[in-house]
Amino acid sequence: MTQVHANKSIKSIFGVTLMAAALGITACSSPTHPDVKARQDIMKNYGDSMKVMGGMVKEPDTFDAEVFQEQAAFLAEESKTPWNHFVDAEAVGNAKEEVWSNNDDFIARSEDFQQASAELNMAASTATSASDIEAAFGAVGKSCKSCHDDYQVETDN
Ligand code: HEC
Repeated sequence: MTQVHANKSIKSIFGVTLMAAALGITACSSPTHPDVKARQDIMKNYGDSMKVMGGMVKEPDTFDAEVFQEQAAFLAEESKTPWNHFVDAEAVGNAKEEVWSNNDDFIARSEDFQQASAELNMAASTATSASDIEAAFGAVGKSCKSCHDDYQVETDN
């Protein structure tokens, strides 16, 4: 009984310390605008998902319909999410100024991408081999790249 009690207080002290540390870090080393962070996190997830699917396209022997479908469904769903984090022109990040000065085109590209992702998801839902999704996957990849070419400041990403 005593031991359980002691254990608990250690845990809660530890918790408080951790929280303070986390707050400290946030307060002094995070100048990133929340919109920039949110959309970069989403884009990073796109990258991870594309890597999983791209690996199966490159090595068709490794095609796993279930995993591919999961990733394609994830991408189709997430393809809708970053755009409201590109509204505030103060949230610059690695976005080019054209995101805002040429916003109609930027939005059109984001819609093309959502369309391409929806088509990939559809193709994936009945796919039994990599050749069934290759074209749709290529179209998504092109859509990512064409937007980055025009609207993302070159980085190592
Ligand atoms: C309509 C435009 C558009 C489309 C489509 C798009 N991106 Fe991006 N992406 C951007 C912009 C703009 C940035 C820079 C955002 C920032 O740093 O504020 C970016 C950033 C990124 C980053 C860097 C994130 C970081 O940590 O800084 C990755 C990775 C990325 N995109 C992957 C993808 C992938 C993969 C796809 C397709 C599946 C995709 N993007 C589709 C516009 C787009």
